[in-house]
Amino acid sequence: MPGPPENIQGYKSVHFSRTTITELMIPSYANFGGKIHGGILLSLMDKVAYVCAAKHAGNYCVTASIDTVNFLEPVEVGELVSLMASVNYVGRTSLVVGIRVISENVKTNVIKHTNTSYFTMVAKNEQNKPVEVPGLILENQEQVRRFEEARRRKEEKQNTIDKARQNNQEMDLDECKQNLKGERCVIQINKARKK
Ligand SMILES: CC(C)(COP(=O)(O)OP(=O)(O)OC[C@H]1O[C@@H](n2cnc3c(N)ncnc32)[C@H](O)[C@@H]1OP(=O)(O)O)[C@@H](O)C(=O)NCCC(=O)NCCS
Repeated sequence: MPGPPENIQGYKSVHFSRTTITELMIPSYANFGGKIHGGILLSLMDKVAYVCAAKHAGNYCVTASIDTVNFLEPVEVGELVSLMASVNYVGRTSLVVGIRVISENVKTNVIKHTNTSYFTMVAKNEQNKPVEVPGLILENQEQVRRFEEARRRKEEKQNTIDKARQNNQEMDLDECKQNLKGERCVIQINKARKK
């Protein structure tokens, strides 16, 4: 008889590595406008992504890339920020951690959704080489949807990279000049300078 999902050889459930970090936004985190620095939130997101990824991988992990961080609402000093992370997708040595960030006003209990982002983390062994991560057990429709969405984003990103590489090879200055008409730039190429 199969055991609980966590015990399927070489696979772990999403639940196994789900991680939340909650932190109070203190005055030293504020920018000149009195709101919380975006960099503070990014650092917390990187932390929670690391914990979630390392728990799933059972190994040290590094951040390979971050997909779209849009700050939807400013975060104020005194608010309680919670970052909820779970593994959305696994490749061979990489995994995608989805992070939802919310911010709570502790006096009014009003909660804002400040952003959702996706961190791609890569597991490394003692020799600093990428190492295979366990597969993912998807236990409900939501988890299947997230896995499939992450797989599509990865595919689309690869297509965009391939296309950009091809465009770079084919880039023609006259065509660029044509495309840039109406943009807020002036082309003043100094032929004496290489770059
Ligand atoms: C990311 C890194 C591990 C990739 O190493 P690599 O030798 O190029 O490894 P590979 O080409 O075998 O790729 C390993 C995995 O990473 C994924 N990957 C590599 N670069 C990636 C990127 N920019 N975005 C998303 N995934 C990426 C690959 O798709 C592959 O995934 P898979 O095994 O699930 O298919 C390596 O470049 C690295 O260590 N970068 C520094 C990371 C770091 O220090 N981060 C902290 C920033 S201070």
